[in-house]
Amino acid sequence: MSDEGDETHVPVDLRPDVPHPARMYDYYLGGKDNFPADRAAAEQVVSLGPLVRISARANRAFLQRAVRHLAEEGITQFLDIGTGIPAAGNTHEVAQRIVPDARVAYVDNDPIVLVHGRALLAGSGAGHVTVVQGDLRDPKSVLADPAVRAVIDFDRPVGLLLFAVLHFIDDADDPYGIVRTLLDALPAGSRIALSHATGDFTTPEQAAKGPAVYRAATAQLSMRSREQVARFFEGLELAEPGLVTAPLWRPDQEPQDTDREVAIWAGVARKP
Ligand SMILES: C[S@@+](CC[C@H](N)C(=O)[O-])C[C@H]1O[C@@H](n2cnc3c(N)ncnc32)[C@H](O)[C@@H]1O
Repeated sequence: MSDEGDETHVPVDLRPDVPHPARMYDYYLGGKDNFPADRAAAEQVVSLGPLVRISARANRAFLQRAVRHLAEEGITQFLDIGTGIPAAGNTHEVAQRIVPDARVAYVDNDPIVLVHGRALLAGSGAGHVTVVQGDLRDPKSVLADPAVRAVIDFDRPVGLLLFAVLHFIDDADDPYGIVRTLLDALPAGSRIALSHATGDFTTPEQAAKGPAVYRAATAQLSMRSREQVARFFEGLELAEPGLVTAPLWRPDQEPQDTDREVAIWAGVARKP
């Protein structure tokens, strides 16, 4: 489903009583688009350590630096899966600062993201941008979606963006196969930018607590080690500085003491 030219109002069940990862993330970032159930679950995660909020902000800042980098490298179209509720500095805003007619297809499986995305685009009047409801676990459907194909030309390099979403894909759903399917559909010179939650910097007992909170949410959390996240980049040319914690990926500011242990691995790579 696309926002473009779609004036119909499909009723959406917001399920305010069930924590949604998109709304929990909005709460970590200090947003207002969340309900008591989201805040209660998010507070349980925040209580696990001070780095939770820092990690969410660091992830968002990485998204912006990575998109800016890709636009500066000549990427003009982006497939952003796991979009989230709009927050400061969304992909199309960052990209269009450098490439004014940059094209962005946003895809998220949470209907509330579609509602917010449509509202954002209606307000901004952005062209060449669509918001599609789709599931990363079904990459072929995402690639075949007519609204995605109306915005993205799959014969030209694409920036595939998977920020803070692959940790919502369970091993049973084959996250590595999903990424391969998406990359196989993109021409040489395309890029992938991804970030992924990790338990590498905590004890296994602490690392188990985050997924335990998400068990009551609409998506489960699968944290992965650096080695497991590195597997997503197999066969690709990893851009400098490689796979690092989010704040250390081409930082705009001097790194802080905690940056090495922010629980998000981040990297950008080129398809040869
Ligand atoms: C933590 S937010 C990340 C938002 C944004 N990409 C960012 O990094 O700032 C994760 C988003 O992934 C979405 N998501 C989770 N599982 C998904 C799936 N199977 N398919 C598509 N989106 C998914 C959630 O609805 C949520 O909006």
